Amino acid sequence: MSAAADPPGGGPRPAASRAGRFWDRLGHLGYGADYNPEQWPPGVWREDMKLMREAGVNMVSVAIFGWAQLEPRPGHYEFGWLDEVLGLLHENGISACLATATASPPPWLARLYPQTLPETADGTRLMPGSRQHFCPSSPEYRAAAAALVERLARRYSAHPALAVWHVGNEFGCHVPACYCDRSAADFRRWLRDRYGDLDTLNERWSTAFWSQRYGEWEEIGVPRRMPAFANPAQQLDFARFCSDALLACFTAEREILRSITPGIPVTTNFLSLWKPVDFFAWAPHQDVIAHDSYPDPLDPATVSDAAFNYDLMRSLGGGRPWILMEQAPSAVNWRGHNAPKPPGVMRLWSYQALARGADAIMFFQWRASAGGAEKFHSALLPHGGTATRTWREASALGRELRKLGELRGTRVRADVAIMLDWPSWWALEQDSHPSQALLLTDQLRAHYKPLWEASIAADVVHPESSLAGYRLVVVPNLYLVTVQAVTGLHDYVSGGGHLLMSFFSGIVDENDRVRLGGYPAPFTDLLGLRIGEFWPLAPGVRAGAEFHDGQDRFTASFWADAIELAGAEPVASYRDGELSGVPALTRHRFGDGLAWYLGTRPGEAAMRRIVLAAARAAGAGPPVPGLPPGVEAVRRAGPRGSYLLLLNHSGDQADIGLPVPMADLLGAPGPRARILLPARGVAVLREPSHPKEP
Ligand code: GLA
Repeated sequence: MSAAADPPGGGPRPAASRAGRFWDRLGHLGYGADYNPEQWPPGVWREDMKLMREAGVNMVSVAIFGWAQLEPRPGHYEFGWLDEVLGLLHENGISACLATATASPPPWLARLYPQTLPETADGTRLMPGSRQHFCPSSPEYRAAAAALVERLARRYSAHPALAVWHVGNEFGCHVPACYCDRSAADFRRWLRDRYGDLDTLNERWSTAFWSQRYGEWEEIGVPRRMPAFANPAQQLDFARFCSDALLACFTAEREILRSITPGIPVTTNFLSLWKPVDFFAWAPHQDVIAHDSYPDPLDPATVSDAAFNYDLMRSLGGGRPWILMEQAPSAVNWRGHNAPKPPGVMRLWSYQALARGADAIMFFQWRASAGGAEKFHSALLPHGGTATRTWREASALGRELRKLGELRGTRVRADVAIMLDWPSWWALEQDSHPSQALLLTDQLRAHYKPLWEASIAADVVHPESSLAGYRLVVVPNLYLVTVQAVTGLHDYVSGGGHLLMSFFSGIVDENDRVRLGGYPAPFTDLLGLRIGEFWPLAPGVRAGAEFHDGQDRFTASFWADAIELAGAEPVASYRDGELSGVPALTRHRFGDGLAWYLGTRPGEAAMRRIVLAAARAAGAGPPVPGLPPGVEAVRRAGPRGSYLLLLNHSGDQADIGLPVPMADLLGAPGPRARILLPARGVAVLREPSHPKEP
């Protein structure tokens, strides 16, 4: 069930076959880490190889921050050390995820070309001495990066260790936007491409407002600091431009790599749900999706957030296997307070990624740095070496994953889709709205968590993707909608689909202009209602509400839509406050389908009830019934087998009855009808018969 499947009839895409060859070459599930040999003398490399073999490592990412060692002076390249490292990796049967090394330019670039340094909105120039100090629109940066990438690709094109290219690193992580004059000029070029002429831009940007009409392209700038609210359409287009400018850096490198090594897949590592980079726009440019995941052991919401990100990564790749490129073996160094992962948690969370479609489990990093800003970040091989808990757990996991090769290539099938759109996110969180506190990530979490708790699998879909095959589509706060998205949702529901949409959806078009005709104009017929006014509730104010079946009361907070029914039936209504008697949750039959609308933010228990009621009505459920609380279950299936992964996130042993006896690939031989899963325990069960591959 994928939004971005291979085109029908055309055979597999080149990207899919490049990726296919890569996965075949690994031969097992991938296991490894970022490897930074440039921080260590060569004598250490040999010990690294021995220990990598011991830990079941079959792939490492090399040279991510190696530019200054590869090109110590402009145009003077030193590849000897990397030759030796790649040779050692190959001799030891370890594949290289070879970085293009362009994420952190060497100091000489900034000395020779200070204009390569990025600027913040208030004009501060970000200096070298850290990393990612480049303006994506700088021609000098791009030229220097291209020269390095071409050299690397030519040198290693036929190297037997080369398995996959790793372009840059976490694009947009530290510098998501640059506001320098070069960026402004590039932004104007981007705007000309988008709008063609100034009259169109003036109209789309609503510049009749506040005397903003532009007479010359040169008058347009990036949204630096301004006296009051910047033009919302300008802000929105600047967000689009920034994502595109970074993407242009990625594709420029990818084109060089593709021309020299056409058979080697190219990827970059996506952060977790990262606002500045439109992953849906980037995903088609990746041969395989790769992700860096850093759940916080101190955050109780972290496990469901991680699950959401894994579902997103799987969905970005059209359901195909993805690489967990980085996770911490234990603590990170970059939060205010950095707790280790307690015993068993690294393994459990690694299996969570595997359950949700990853076929490679990797870490940052192999060996803990002795110096530098990340010396207190955990590593598979800590400062204490092999006599450490982290090493014991990591090397055991690497060996254990060797037992699970048969899972490779199997896929997760989801009945539910949750809709997400970056431009809508950018527009939703702009200033001068009914509430400044409306954050999409809060809303996504509130809608997703009940699905995760109930082990109901969900894909994450773009609003313009096909919704065919999903039983339920959940649409949290889709503020900006295109005509195509509106049509797609109408067709989906009228054709029998179920929809759960929440407040402040369908409000504006692609330029943040209100879709006129009464809120939410594109969906009033579909939802059978209108919204008279948005009614944000003051911080701390709660409105009592009640389900009409008399079963439950709940409190709503933060926001209330003043819903006027026009065909929909109320499912829950406010019982006090200014909106007493007004519906908070509605349901409307539309064609052969059903559309739910939630006009507020209920407490967690009520949200669970609402999401699960919508899922039940749509016929979406978990892969096995009756799971104890805290146990996550995901099915991965393929033509050759079907597997149930059970993960116990609770602090207690879980007793799980299975509908039919199954073999636990990690446990004692023989089929079992009942699994006793210890706290933080994992089971990987082979199902005797299985539904058809998605
Ligand atoms: C990111 C980067 C790595 C490293 C880790 C530390 O994921 O890609 O280079 O800095 O964070 O957690």
